[in-house]
Amino acid sequence: MSGFKFNFITDDDGDGDSASDKNLGLGAGAVICEQSKDRDALIELKREGSDGGGDSGAPCIRPAKKLTFNDDLVQAICKNVYQVETLTVCGAEYVHRVTSDEEVASSALRESVTQDSDIIPLVYEGGLKIWECSLDLVEYLASSDVDFAGANVLELGCGAALPGIHALGQGASVVFQDYNAEVLELVTIPNVVNNTPDDDDDRVAALPGRCQFWAGDWGALERKWKELQLRFDVILTSETIYSEAAQPHLYSLIKAVLKPAGAAYVAAKVHYFGVGGGTRQFVHLVEEDGAFNVTTCFATESGLRREILMMRWKTAGAT
Ligand SMILES: C[S@@+](CC[C@H](N)C(=O)[O-])C[C@H]1O[C@@H](n2cnc3c(N)ncnc32)[C@H](O)[C@@H]1O
Repeated sequence: MSGFKFNFITDDDGDGDSASDKNLGLGAGAVICEQSKDRDALIELKREGSDGGGDSGAPCIRPAKKLTFNDDLVQAICKNVYQVETLTVCGAEYVHRVTSDEEVASSALRESVTQDSDIIPLVYEGGLKIWECSLDLVEYLASSDVDFAGANVLELGCGAALPGIHALGQGASVVFQDYNAEVLELVTIPNVVNNTPDDDDDRVAALPGRCQFWAGDWGALERKWKELQLRFDVILTSETIYSEAAQPHLYSLIKAVLKPAGAAYVAAKVHYFGVGGGTRQFVHLVEEDGAFNVTTCFATESGLRREILMMRWKTAGAT
């Protein structure tokens, strides 16, 4: 199936196939495999075919799964030398693990290589790359008075996870979530470890106590996390509202796990051309439900219009 370009920034230098272009959604044109109207219908069909809990046998929706993250894994990653991109955001340097086509093709994400598509609805949702709104979110958080010290933070749809890594560096405990377990294994976990100063043994040793990694669909995770009574002071998410069909699932999960005095930050494009989602639809969804105040705490017109929305409970006692 041939892809078409949607939203994000197009490939300025034309060739678009260097390792760097493939791993940074910033410079590379994003490709999605379905046209908008077909896409939403396809997503609904896939959802109907699977209850998301992993018991139905349907392979489409990813069940909730907590990945093992222990000291042995941290040590193994510390010893491994990966190819990384270096990014400077707000004066801080971040590294992002570069994946190769071969490596991706040998995982369950092979379709993203064979279809040359950056997003395949409910198969691969784009987490191998860094998308530009995640940098907006890191910049915003670094210049804001959000206090991460001792906070329980959740990054939804984390992919490369720079916002969650920022929160971790400021003293938070962080749950990182991505749709694809393979993204967590190939990119998120190495990024978290590689962005923890390795000359600080205490910080490295403390990682397993301060981080969790969960894969799966937002619907499946909502059921699981309600059972486990996970709750968060701050929820961060970037470039996760491009699909109108998926927005209610993301919203419902935020509503289920945000603490009464907590805040959620949603960084996204105002409009995702070709797929129909964006901040306007999300604000409409939140306002229609009525549980949260939603404000725009950052906006830029440079390139494609982007915003960061902040959500807080209207009633601080709400659950
Ligand atoms: C375009 S990527 C953005 C990655 C990263 N936040 C960034 O800005 O670089 C979208 C992310 O949303 C998540 N996602 C999309 N649909 C999802 C769903 N139905 N359930 C769970 N996660 C989903 C995936 O984890 C994916 O990594």
